[in-house]
Amino acid sequence: MAHPQFQAAHLVLIALVVARGALAVDQSDLDFIPELTERQQFSPDFFIFKFQNADTTTPFGSLRTMFVNNNPALATLPGEGAAQNLVTLGPCGINQPHNHPRATEISHVTEGKLLFGFAEENGGRSFIGGNVTKGQTVIIPQGLIHFAQNLDCKEAQFIATFPNRDPGTQTTASTFFNLPLSTIRGTTGLSDEQIKKIQASVAANRNPSVDRECAKRCGLKY
Ligand SMILES: *[C@@H]1O[C@H](CO)[C@@H](O)[C@H](O)[C@H]1NC(C)=O
Repeated sequence: MAHPQFQAAHLVLIALVVARGALAVDQSDLDFIPELTERQQFSPDFFIFKFQNADTTTPFGSLRTMFVNNNPALATLPGEGAAQNLVTLGPCGINQPHNHPRATEISHVTEGKLLFGFAEENGGRSFIGGNVTKGQTVIIPQGLIHFAQNLDCKEAQFIATFPNRDPGTQTTASTFFNLPLSTIRGTTGLSDEQIKKIQASVAANRNPSVDRECAKRCGLKY
């Protein structure tokens, strides 16, 4: 155990170092990312991110992510950093229910109209949502299952921004229906035959997918 007098001296020393640091600000330092080595510093090559490559494209829409895996500049940001998605949904397209384990989402609609919604944790409300039009922004709390659905007959688009360089995504239906058969059987009370039918349907409906009732209403031949 440290001697009390030694402890007191130690505290005074720390206070002096902190006070001196606060006074002596070196303007030439990259203060906002002091922990980085030169090699890790923000690369100008990643300054303009063009979303030119869609990570996922189906006939019903596309998801373009700017996560740390495809823009390494994000790895150099201070704190938790940031990330962004550009989501395009064709007529009747849906960005399937999913959650982001490490970030709240702030989504701004740039085109069309979308039904956004999320479900609160157990004991909370099962659906909070509404139609969001071009120029409006929605906030989705971290970790909660949510979706965006285009119920209109024309294209819609939104930009999702995350206060985390690696928000992560977990798609609800495909995650659940890929669990062990015994787990799904025990949870749903369905037979193996019924489960396999749903599994095949979920696998065939790659995200973004479509609402066929809406497609019929819009006269689309999907
Ligand atoms: C959103 O708009 C659609 C029509 O595009 C309508 O059917 C639906 O009831 C609306 N939902 C909510 C929650 O307002």
